[in-house]
Amino acid sequence: MNIVRTIAELRDQVALWRADGHSIGLVPTMGALHKGHLSLVDEISANASKIIVSIFVNPTQFAENEDLDAYPRQEANDCKKLEASAASLVFAPSENEMYGTGHKTRVTLDGISEILEGASRPGHFDGVATIVSKLLLQCMPDIAIFGEKDYQQLAVIRQIVRDLNIPVKILGGTLVREDDGLAYSSRNAYLNPLERKIAGHFNLILAKLVEAAPASNDLRALEDQATNELLKAGFTSVDYVQIVDKTSLRTLAALSGPARVVAVARLGAIRLLDNMEIQS
Ligand code: PAF
Repeated sequence: MNIVRTIAELRDQVALWRADGHSIGLVPTMGALHKGHLSLVDEISANASKIIVSIFVNPTQFAENEDLDAYPRQEANDCKKLEASAASLVFAPSENEMYGTGHKTRVTLDGISEILEGASRPGHFDGVATIVSKLLLQCMPDIAIFGEKDYQQLAVIRQIVRDLNIPVKILGGTLVREDDGLAYSSRNAYLNPLERKIAGHFNLILAKLVEAAPASNDLRALEDQATNELLKAGFTSVDYVQIVDKTSLRTLAALSGPARVVAVARLGAIRLLDNMEIQS
């Protein structure tokens, strides 16, 4: 797999591809690639003739109390997996290349970045918005893809692209699940066998809520019921289970349009995210 580590090399390669008439797709990742990431590469390949996969563990989206050092880094393994995919190039910059001495700029958003994940992880989305803006400006792709598993992240990215007029199409990538329905995540590798078994209940409990929601006149009661079921299944704690508007991610009093259930439950120190569409 061809790897470049500097923005200058990346831009040179993109310019050569552009001169040859190629369209460019970007798949931003923090590495530790699994089937969910590989499916993003596959999905974007229908829309771009050259695909860049970025691998960068972004320090600015981790809070002080979150263990940035423990985040899995397995570049050689990631590149091996990408060999068999439609990826054309890996962009794997150093921290210094992305945030060199004197770096001062931060992209921040109001509203959507402060609720749900933003409330549980203050500052997280400013870090995501900053690095994604930088990656888009460095690569200048025609299209970029972000998984629907991180549903709020996808909404945040659509917002910054709109607000900053970045000329790129954003694609939401299908949420890919393991055999028992657990959403693929780099964090799944940290679950011990018992936790992994408990984790398999997450999607089943949310699916039950999704089925009940259209006929319910008390969405809060459904959220509470799902929370209790998660705790009963063995989850250590539940950060939130919320039925929200599909676009604004604001809590819904009643199902009046496209909706989503978004949820985070913990097994020990591991936070698992999931979300599902609700038909109204
Ligand atoms: O979803 C991720 O892996 C990261 O948040 C992203 C979008 C690559 C930014 O660091």
